[in-house]
Amino acid sequence: MNDLAGKHIVLGLTGGIACYKAAELCRALVKEGATVQVVMTEAAAQFITPVTMQALSNRPVYGSQWDAREPNNMAHINLSRDADAILIAPCSADFLSKLLHGGADDLLSLMCLARPIDTVPLLVAPAMNREMWAHPATQRNLAQLRADGTTILGVGNGDQACGETGDGRMLEPQELLEDVIAFFQPKLLAGQQVLVTAGPTFEAIDPVRGITNHSSGKMGFAVARAAQEAGAQVTLVAGPVSLPTPRGVRRIDVQSATDMLAACVDAAPTATIFVACAAVADWRPAQASEQKIKKDGSGQTPTLTFLENPDILATLAQSPRARDGSLFCVGFAAESHDLLAHATDKRIRKSVPLLVGNIGPATFGKDDNALLLIDAHGTLELPHNTKLTLGRQLIAEIAKRLP
Ligand code: CTP
Repeated sequence: MNDLAGKHIVLGLTGGIACYKAAELCRALVKEGATVQVVMTEAAAQFITPVTMQALSNRPVYGSQWDAREPNNMAHINLSRDADAILIAPCSADFLSKLLHGGADDLLSLMCLARPIDTVPLLVAPAMNREMWAHPATQRNLAQLRADGTTILGVGNGDQACGETGDGRMLEPQELLEDVIAFFQPKLLAGQQVLVTAGPTFEAIDPVRGITNHSSGKMGFAVARAAQEAGAQVTLVAGPVSLPTPRGVRRIDVQSATDMLAACVDAAPTATIFVACAAVADWRPAQASEQKIKKDGSGQTPTLTFLENPDILATLAQSPRARDGSLFCVGFAAESHDLLAHATDKRIRKSVPLLVGNIGPATFGKDDNALLLIDAHGTLELPHNTKLTLGRQLIAEIAKRLP
């Protein structure tokens, strides 16, 4: 992926043990296509060398406002003018307070103060001991920085270098990378509440066996991530899959179609968009055995009878909020053939304004797909691409169709 292609990021490091993670972050940003200019405070250079950061960013590192390499001797101006963002990671408690007060006694703080505030956004990834993080002074500084337009990327929870446990660790490089990528996505769904189903369902036969299908959940997880990146609050109801939860998404794990329906009915009253990506099992065993069904040696096979599962999409699409336009419902159709005909028919049968067709066997488990969008006005092909890119394109199409 090259989600940061064309982006120029100034990566600022301040003093803290989390500087060791900044090396990995720098590498991840570069791998994602960004150019990275590193600026370090004197304290940061106590934790990691400028040589390491220069090698990873492939650019000389700046640390002093008196750096004679700049012809006009104004590194604090020159470095920020072509930046798409300044990211301070790690950002110490001291540096937060400096930013808040407009302090400018070293290159990094001077550059932050001198940046064009409307065109060069400032993102900070705090890192500190849990007591420092919880201190009213730090929390007050964070609130004011937010009010001043700074994006605070949050902190992790867990073991700290000092031996204590709690909030205040810097987020992991991969988490920061996801947050930076999300930051640059257009906020097409700001204020929306999106409910997504994903993955297969598992219909128990007995405590050790069940019926399921090949859905990997990747498309639904990509849609959930894309919706979150677009500024929505996202609830993801996931069948049994082993995928990581996208950053900032509330995930509810379920097993059966009945559980999935209950979770969706629960979340639906506040949702404004519902995207049904899950490959819900059409049938379930009428009665799951409480004990494992044993072979009795007679050669006779057990007889299973089935009940039809509730249709989650149809249930939500028929709710009063869907009918009056407050809940925009999107269905998926996984077909093996005649995609257009089946998907067109399914859109009408499920009474949804938008239906997304794909060829199931061609995409199950893969990282890419191709989609065919069908609404009342016609069709739109989203050609072969990664599921994340298609998820973003689908979110943009949904945003266009909202009432
Ligand atoms: N769906 C659902 N609940 C079900 C079955 C399907 O919410 N019990 C949703 C899926 O998440 C998808 C859409 O309905 O958005 C279409 O699912 P699909 O299984 O492809 O269609 P079916 O309704 O099962 O129709 P058919 O068996 O004819 O393919």
